[in-house]
Formats: sequence, structure tokens, C-alpha cells
Amino acid sequence: MKVLVTGAAGFIGQKLVSALIADPLYTDITITDIILPKTPRSPEEKPVTAVLSNLATQADREMLVTKDLDVIFILHGIMSGMAEKNFESGMMVNFDSTRGLLECARKRRWHESRNKLFIGAQVVPGIKVVFASSLAVFGGTLPDEVTERTMPTPSTSYGMQKMLCEYLINDYSRRGYIDGRTLRFPTVVVRPGAPSGAASSFVSGIIREPLNNLPSVLPVSRDMSLWVSSPRTVVSNILHAVNVPAEQLGEMRQINLPGITVTVKEMLEALGAVGGEERVELVKEQKDETVQRIVGSWPARFRIERAMDLGFVGDGGFAQVVKEYIEDEGILV
Ligand SMILES: NC(=O)c1ccc[n+]([C@@H]2O[C@H](COP(=O)([O-])OP(=O)(O)OC[C@H]3O[C@@H](n4cnc5c(N)ncnc54)[C@H](O)[C@@H]3O)[C@@H](O)[C@H]2O)c1
Repeated sequence: MKVLVTGAAGFIGQKLVSALIADPLYTDITITDIILPKTPRSPEEKPVTAVLSNLATQADREMLVTKDLDVIFILHGIMSGMAEKNFESGMMVNFDSTRGLLECARKRRWHESRNKLFIGAQVVPGIKVVFASSLAVFGGTLPDEVTERTMPTPSTSYGMQKMLCEYLINDYSRRGYIDGRTLRFPTVVVRPGAPSGAASSFVSGIIREPLNNLPSVLPVSRDMSLWVSSPRTVVSNILHAVNVPAEQLGEMRQINLPGITVTVKEMLEALGAVGGEERVELVKEQKDETVQRIVGSWPARFRIERAMDLGFVGDGGFAQVVKEYIEDEGILV
């Protein structure tokens, strides 16, 4: 398969690229980002082409969406906190550029072939698109457990931008322009490296910084519940999404990915149990009402029957998430 990964220099992008390189299904990989993405080291001999792009520009989108692509993984974006601070950037990167990519995919495979592309008697389906959406499409007053049938009422501009893309993907898929799969990620923890522009950045920070013997700020209350998943699980689920038959998805391309419901208190307990109690002491409370409002508006409990029926996988528990991070980053505890 020939694939394009956007946002490939990012947290999940880099991990996905490593997984694509290791998977024999993927033979030709193009990775792109506004920062030139690194090609993760791997023993496999595979052509990986790294391209610098600004997907807010039409020329870069057209350069990247070639009609021989089998799958586009759309991962680029501006995170929740930044999109809330800068409405125009959020619209341009999270919505306009995604719409532009979908339009390129439509035109390449559909319009340019006079609306029908046949091999023998079979209509060739549109390019598969796996889109990184978010639990942030939900907000405000929610039922105790959220399902794909729960009306998204986002309470952030980021969530609204993701929701708009989701609706485009449903309609483009219904019309056969693309074959879309929208994955609503839980908050993905633990993110290595520097804090991100996400309002939920602290969720990784309160584990990552103490494990590196650094202080960390907790901007929300300890009883806040969150819906989280590990990067390993999310990457497995992204790869799985490609293989789910379109007929099983039907008209609704959104899937709420599995996650774990965990309170901040339980997260810190897992940090203490896995990394040592002295690490927990490094986390200091310093309330940030904006972060509390944004992250507190996201649901923490989902029913995930649809995802499980479609073969997606879940995490073992939060202590396991912390252990995986320690293993992946080679941290000594
Ligand atoms: N990490 C999470 O917890 C989480 C949760 C829910 C949804 N998501 C979604 O998953 C996707 C990946 O998340 P992540 O944590 O890896 O984010 P990230 O911020 O690490 O990566 C996003 C990448 O997009 C790139 N980008 C931004 N503007 C661009 C532009 N104009 N052109 C090209 N590239 C551009 C950035 O340079 C960055 O490398 C995002 O769409 C995000 O909204 C992430």
C-alpha cells in the first residue's frame, strides 16, 4: 500500500510511522509536516519520503495527494489549547486544510475520472482516509455514558473543527469520494518530550516530568475523571482502522476509540506505585480555570461496544500505561 501521513513529526505521527515501517502491508510511505519529520530508525528497507509542507496551502496539498495513494492518515493539527487561543489558525489548520485534503482526494480519484473509476465491472472505491478526531467533539451536558449516537456539542473551537471534519468525512464516504474512518481518540498519554499546546497537556506532564525527576504543575482538581489511552494502543487502533470493511462502518464513519476512565488521583497513585512515591511529591497543584473548564467539559465515560465489535483494542489499566512509557523511553526507575 502507498500511504501518506500528515502531522508525521508529531507525537502520534512519529509512532505511527515506526509502526507503518514495521508492517509489511505498507510498501511506500510519504510522511509530511510543517517541521521536516524524522524517519524513525528501523531495520526494514522501505522507501520513506519525508516532505516539508504547510497543509494550509493548496499547492502543498495538491503536491501530496497523488491518485495512486491507498491511504491518507490525517494527523496534523493545532491542539485544543492553541485552537482556543487562536481561532483563525485553528480553523485554517484543523478545518480548512482537512477539507482541502479531502477535496484533493475526491478530485484525484473521482472527478478526474469522470465520476466513475472501474477495474473490470468493479467501481474502485475512493482513497481510504483515517482521520484523527477527538473526544473533544463532545462537551457541555452529557449522558452518563457517551456513544456514537450521542449528539456532539463541542464546547471548544478545536472540538467544533474536528466535528465539522467528521461530517465532511461521512458525506464524502457516502458519496464514494473517499472511504473514511474517523477515530475519536481519548487523551493519549504519556506524551514524551515537551508539553504540547493541548489543554490536556498536563495529563502527560504529571507523569512524564516526575519520572524525569522534574517538578510538574497540576492545573485541575484531583477528582477530575479523564478518558485516556496509551500511544501503543492508539497506534494499533489506527492501523486496525484501515482493515475494517467499509460495509461494517455504514453511514456513520465515527468510532469512539476504547480508553480507560481514570481520575487524576488514580493516575498519581499509579505513578507512585510504578515509579516510587517520591515522584508524586514533585506534582504541585496550581489551579488554571481555563484548563479546568476545557478538560472538564470532555466526557470521561464511553460505551465502546461499536469499537470492540469492529475489532479495536483497549488498554490494560493506567499502571500499564505508565509502564509502557517507561519501557518506550528507556527511563530508569
Ligand atoms: N495527543 C492526543 O492526546 C490527542 C487526542 C485526541 C486527538 N488527537 C489528534 O491526533 C492528531 C495527532 O496528535 P498529536 O498529539 O500527535 O499532535 P502533535 O501536535 O504532536 O502533532 C501535530 C502535527 O501537526 C503539524 N502541523 C501543524 N500545522 C500544520 C500545517 N499547517 N501543515 C502541516 N503540518 C502541520 C505539527 O507540526 C505537528 O507535528 C491531531 O490531529 C490531534 O488533534 C490527539
